[in-house]
Amino acid sequence: MQQQHPGTQSAPLETPRLLAERFESGQPGIVYIKPKILFLKTEALSVAPSSMNIYLPPSGIGSITLLEASALVALTKIIEPKVIFEFGTFLGYSTALFLKNSSPECRVISVDLGDVAEEVSGAAHYSEAELRKDDRKNDDHLRLVQSKQGPYYLKGLTEIDQARLTLIHQDSRSLNVKGNGLEDQVDLVFVDGGHDLETIVSDSGLAKAMIGEDGVIVWHDFNSQIHGDVTRYIDGASKQDLILSIPNTMLAIGLYGKARARFLELGCTGQDAA
Ligand SMILES: C[S@@+](CC[C@H](N)C(=O)[O-])C[C@H]1O[C@@H](n2cnc3c(N)ncnc32)[C@H](O)[C@@H]1O
Repeated sequence: MQQQHPGTQSAPLETPRLLAERFESGQPGIVYIKPKILFLKTEALSVAPSSMNIYLPPSGIGSITLLEASALVALTKIIEPKVIFEFGTFLGYSTALFLKNSSPECRVISVDLGDVAEEVSGAAHYSEAELRKDDRKNDDHLRLVQSKQGPYYLKGLTEIDQARLTLIHQDSRSLNVKGNGLEDQVDLVFVDGGHDLETIVSDSGLAKAMIGEDGVIVWHDFNSQIHGDVTRYIDGASKQDLILSIPNTMLAIGLYGKARARFLELGCTGQDAA
């Protein structure tokens, strides 16, 4: 569930050129873009139409929408990552999305807590109304669901895709980036684990260590009506950085270094359509 952010009052940018000019201004902030900017960029990659390989989105709470999925697929095609890291496997929906839409050489690594059902057993009794208004209860509910169901969407993976997937079961806040050989090695990070401020700050710091100077970080639950700490974190980060978002999604996208340059350049030639 999304809430109206003050920044959405300005019309979203419509073309790659306008977006590049906005970055050239050097001003930090949150910039809303139409999803078609991502789709135009994927069209610029190849004359052949771009396919999208996804499952229907899960109906329950805790995953991503079809629009968010298509934006993540487009971004994956644009960035052409060799390594993707995800905070928050949950049922494996976004994990499968990354595997099925990246190159056969791309490794995908995803962290979640594993079986913490006993620790969060109280969450079995929360009402729908409580889950919609209490971010802590909502997070515990998601922890319980992933403990009980596991990564359901990863069951049908081909052997080739399974071989390039690593699932880590631990609290992301104690993840050793260097020890796992991830420092400065990751091209695309999806931050969608715990939504409390401490975890977001920690996961985002680890994401930055993983990409080094050059890469893309996507946060989920920006502008969420439930997980207000994500919005507070992104609002704070946008005081120094330019962060992109797409109306009607809860995605916030940070582009850094050469990955930013490549992203901005793509689809930017020729005249913008009026
Ligand atoms: C919103 S769900 C992820 C959804 C998934 N990315 C998708 O789109 O299909 C959040 C997940 O983060 C996990 N999580 C919460 N706190 C965590 C922590 N401290 N370390 C690792 N995983 C955590 C939860 O167990 C839950 O499965």
